[in-house]
Amino acid sequence: MLWQYAHVSLLITNIGELVTNAPRDAVSVSSPGPFEAIADAAIVLDAGLVAWSGPAAEAPAADEVVDAAGRAVLPGFVDSHAHLVFAGERGAEFAARMAGLPYSAGGIRSTVAATRAARDDVLRSNLARLAGEMLAQGTTTFECKSGYGLTVADEARSVTLAGEVTPEVTYLGAHVVPAEFDGDVARYVDLVCGEMLAACAPSAKWVDVFCEDGAFGADEARAVLAAGEAAGLQPRIHANQLGPGPGVQVAVEAGAASADHCTFLSDTDVDALAASGGTVATLLPGVEFSTRSPYPDAQRLLSAGVTVAIASDCNPGSCFTSSMPLCVALAVREMRMTTAEAVWAATAGGARALRRTDVGHLGTGARGDLIMLDAPSHAYLAYRPGVPLVTGVWRSGERVA
Ligand code: NIG
Ligand code: FE
Repeated sequence: MLWQYAHVSLLITNIGELVTNAPRDAVSVSSPGPFEAIADAAIVLDAGLVAWSGPAAEAPAADEVVDAAGRAVLPGFVDSHAHLVFAGERGAEFAARMAGLPYSAGGIRSTVAATRAARDDVLRSNLARLAGEMLAQGTTTFECKSGYGLTVADEARSVTLAGEVTPEVTYLGAHVVPAEFDGDVARYVDLVCGEMLAACAPSAKWVDVFCEDGAFGADEARAVLAAGEAAGLQPRIHANQLGPGPGVQVAVEAGAASADHCTFLSDTDVDALAASGGTVATLLPGVEFSTRSPYPDAQRLLSAGVTVAIASDCNPGSCFTSSMPLCVALAVREMRMTTAEAVWAATAGGARALRRTDVGHLGTGARGDLIMLDAPSHAYLAYRPGVPLVTGVWRSGERVA
């Protein structure tokens, strides 16, 4: 008998607004371009990729047809910052914050204790639940960090578990100094740059460090990123979250793909990002929401020419949302982004922050990762905040939600 792979092409037509982030009329697009949208559009997915997009009236035939009935179609969200490998929860810490206590990085240690005590299957099922939440809300690519293990064995299992759900795995042994290393930061940094890195590097793509008072200083952050790079990992960084500091400068010096948080920026930081030629500023509006911090001004970055991404930072402490639609709405309302800028930042911007060219846009040849909104335009993500508008999700051309 002759077995043949019967792939089925799909035409989604009658799309009210198709956000492509790809130049119109380009024959093939190999990476995200600026925000771009087509009215009365159609798109064809074939063999897991975008095969065609354009005006619905000119659409070619396909094996299957979906009628979008005027709804909007967008690239799937690319969430470039999430901490999903953990056990326990910190709802009481959030409630205390809302009653007036400040956020402090110290809370991380309680999640470290719960994570170390958890069996693999508990961590795995937490991870699957959060990844499922993300997918249902339109996130088709996400990054996932370690950082709640902080022993060689617990960090190694964290990156291994993360690798079961995403290729975008980040080694964050330098999240905080664990209690057993109190008073001996240098010895912990040696472990992070030595035995722990060796155990984690084969399962990770990225190295990250929390550069902040109460976590790691500039020299320690430089050492962690340099050791990670020597082990084949690419740098990214938690920078300027809790106050002004050296994180952004360290990121730019290191040629990091992204400096994340950027809540407290000086003019020098903004200039450095603008001149960096590639370090994305990843804003995490859910964190400002959940810690009652001031929101950074995205317009200040955009008008300086900085590439801005938006991500969730989903974690049990500073921000326990997995919802990119919420982050888009917050970025529009609280960070002065236009709806187009925020949607671009949550798709193409995330792709830039992960150095990915195949996602974050719907140019011909891009991965067939897209979402349909129960709404006529991308603007509804901010216009109707809190409403579950994502009504269909396709990943690699397959309908998954
Ligand atoms: O990105 N800033 C450091 N890490 C996380 C928070 C982790 C936690 O509070 O558990 C963040 O906000
Ligand atoms: Fe984070």
